[in-house]
Amino acid sequence: MTAKVASVGMYVPQRRMSNNELTELVDTSDKWIYSHTGIRNRHIADDSEATSDLAYHASVQALERASLEPDQIDLVLLATSTPDYPGLPSTASIVQDRIGAKKAGAMDIVAACTGFVYGLETARAFVTSGAARTVLVIGAEVYSGILNWKDRNTCVLFGDGAGAVIVKRSDEEAGQSEMLDSFLRSRGSGARTLLRPSGGSRTPVVPGETEIETTKLYMDGRRVYMFAVGAMTDVLDYLLERNNLTIDQIDHVVPHQANIRIIEAACKRGGFPLEKFFTNLEEYANTSAASIPIALNEMVETDRLKRGDMVITVGFGAGLTYGGNLIRW
Ligand code: UT7
Repeated sequence: MTAKVASVGMYVPQRRMSNNELTELVDTSDKWIYSHTGIRNRHIADDSEATSDLAYHASVQALERASLEPDQIDLVLLATSTPDYPGLPSTASIVQDRIGAKKAGAMDIVAACTGFVYGLETARAFVTSGAARTVLVIGAEVYSGILNWKDRNTCVLFGDGAGAVIVKRSDEEAGQSEMLDSFLRSRGSGARTLLRPSGGSRTPVVPGETEIETTKLYMDGRRVYMFAVGAMTDVLDYLLERNNLTIDQIDHVVPHQANIRIIEAACKRGGFPLEKFFTNLEEYANTSAASIPIALNEMVETDRLKRGDMVITVGFGAGLTYGGNLIRW
């Protein structure tokens, strides 16, 4: 049995925040942010919007485009590190209920910015084993809620958004759309380079003692940068070698949209042509688990990504986690 990506959808909040707006919050400039990251704008959820709301809109679009009824979904996988509620219930269950997927199981996947890559491979495993026929995979985040808006090292980098795909059983004829392979890795020794220090079982919030900033995102940017460049080249080298492919045979690389300089450095180090790498981080910034499905959606909508194209996704992020998917679209 084989699995394919049948459709894509996305949603971002209406509110668009420019780099210039950020200069009112922290000591920064459009020039610094753009030259160090490639980011110009990000979309920010309003007070009424939680992660499941963004995920819902992206999912409805993906379902419509696949001409599926909600009760045809067997499993909802939602990759996020900004769930509606801390720990429980899963945000996937909230989306499952809202879209009316009455015959589906649901669970969240927590692998930070690599979450969608992990989700796609989990969906492929369920479908190719026969355990599921149709899986909804979502990457959705409201990072604006976990950012320290006084920390210029992090608050300028992230945005909110959601992307969703339908993974389903495919025809087994040669050359058909197919998810071919994946590569998933974790390097937990780097866990403390990108985290929310307080609020979990390791360091619970103590009323009157815990500083609110320690419940927000902390990142050692330089260490994450070094890790990310190596992770990107490792993923590409591994997937190409294991599948007897060269980069010339790949039509598109869809990297996690964190920073244009990470993508450029990985291309330089690995000898990969930058023009094969899709980027839209200028408009959305880093939307963590949502960045790859949002990119896939934009590529499909603009006819850049067509059936039969060979694609590699590459993710990296907190954990530290990294990985990629090789797909014949
Ligand atoms: O999904 C994975 C998520 N993580 C990432 O993508 C982050 C990976 N890391 C990076 O992308 C980069 O390390 C950053 C973009 C975060 C930082 O870029 P950098 O070129 O490594 O800057 P830096 O940390 O070396 O800082 C250089 C200077 C510092 O000032 P001093 O100490 O030299 O006076 C910073 O304080 O830039 C300063 N700086 C800023 N200045 C203006 C840091 N953030 C800002 C800012 N505006 N927003």
